Amino acid sequence: MRYKRLNEISLSEKSVLLRLDLNTPIEAGVVTNQERIIRSLPTVNFILESGARLIIMSHLGRPEENNMFQEEFSLAPVVKEMEGLLNMQIPLYSLSEIESLDQVDHISIIENTRFNIGEKNNDIELSKRLAALADVFVMDAFATSHRAHASTTGVITFSNDACAGFLLDEELTALSKVKENAKSSIAVLGGAKISTKLSLIDSLSKTVDKVILGGGIANTCLAAKGYEVGKSLIEDSMLEEAKELIKNPKIIIPESVIVSISADEPGRIASASSIQENEAIFDIAPASLVDLEPIIMNAGTILWNGPIGFFEKENFFAGTAMIAEMIISSKGFSVAGGGDTISAAEKAGVLDSLDYVSTAGGAFLEFMEGKKLPALEALIDKVN
Ligand code: 3PG
Repeated sequence: MRYKRLNEISLSEKSVLLRLDLNTPIEAGVVTNQERIIRSLPTVNFILESGARLIIMSHLGRPEENNMFQEEFSLAPVVKEMEGLLNMQIPLYSLSEIESLDQVDHISIIENTRFNIGEKNNDIELSKRLAALADVFVMDAFATSHRAHASTTGVITFSNDACAGFLLDEELTALSKVKENAKSSIAVLGGAKISTKLSLIDSLSKTVDKVILGGGIANTCLAAKGYEVGKSLIEDSMLEEAKELIKNPKIIIPESVIVSISADEPGRIASASSIQENEAIFDIAPASLVDLEPIIMNAGTILWNGPIGFFEKENFFAGTAMIAEMIISSKGFSVAGGGDTISAAEKAGVLDSLDYVSTAGGAFLEFMEGKKLPALEALIDKVN
């Protein structure tokens, strides 16, 4: 993959437009998770230290695209966090305000890119307006690189010079490791719905050695095998696809499970063949964990996406916690990504012990599925 990197461009005395993904959770006007902000700082600091003037832009949530300021989706709380982390004041401008300045500040931020009409359909005029803001465009929003938007993709086409920031490069390097070391790679894929992960499972099962399934995804596969799964979370509409999937010998579906008549009641250990009509599967049981242990422990690389059981409930958290422990204890290089995965890893206390944690949700899945990321393609085109 050939694209320009940040250290290949001279930035001194230049103006730089930096696209970050600062789409962070906010409650009552306060950022509740700083992860994406913190992970953006190496690029921000590098640009500031190079003597360039820096304009940052990001989207936040999914506002109406109407050229109007919408307080609920304002980047103001994010700016406040950044001011604290960088120990400097950062003015927040609308796009037209920043366009009217004679000279931009040392550092500034533009309001939510999704306020601007034309952002989501990658409008040429909007892309040109953004590109005209600076001498150099730096793309560091890996988590939004799967969106062909004006601020992620169109802007690259019209900028004088464009490159990848450190986070984008780091994410691509870490996630590519799983694909490239496919021989001894495994994937651990959980979560509620097989429909949202089918193409990921399909594509990974072509490259990695084993794909361990958990959660609602595994339940649907057990139903496809013909087991009575009672009231378990399954997707009836996906049974035919699941029947195809289970023919692949690389796919592992744990058959020793924890079932219960309610998520609020304690569970009992059951084999897949002994689930009662009024019971539902909520977790993986010790016998299956024992089977999975050598596979996880001996893997060269491990991709983890999605919880293995109903981890939000204490009674059914053990399976996900044990799998998480095995992943961090394995000699393999571990990569985790996707919103629920991070919450599960945090709850299991393993977040800091994983080798790489992606900042992305949708973009992580699309990249691992082998789909092209429009922003990355635009960066690659820029050097050709
Ligand atoms: C994310 O949180 O996955 C990214 O910021 C992309 O957000 P989107 O799904 O609203 O495009």
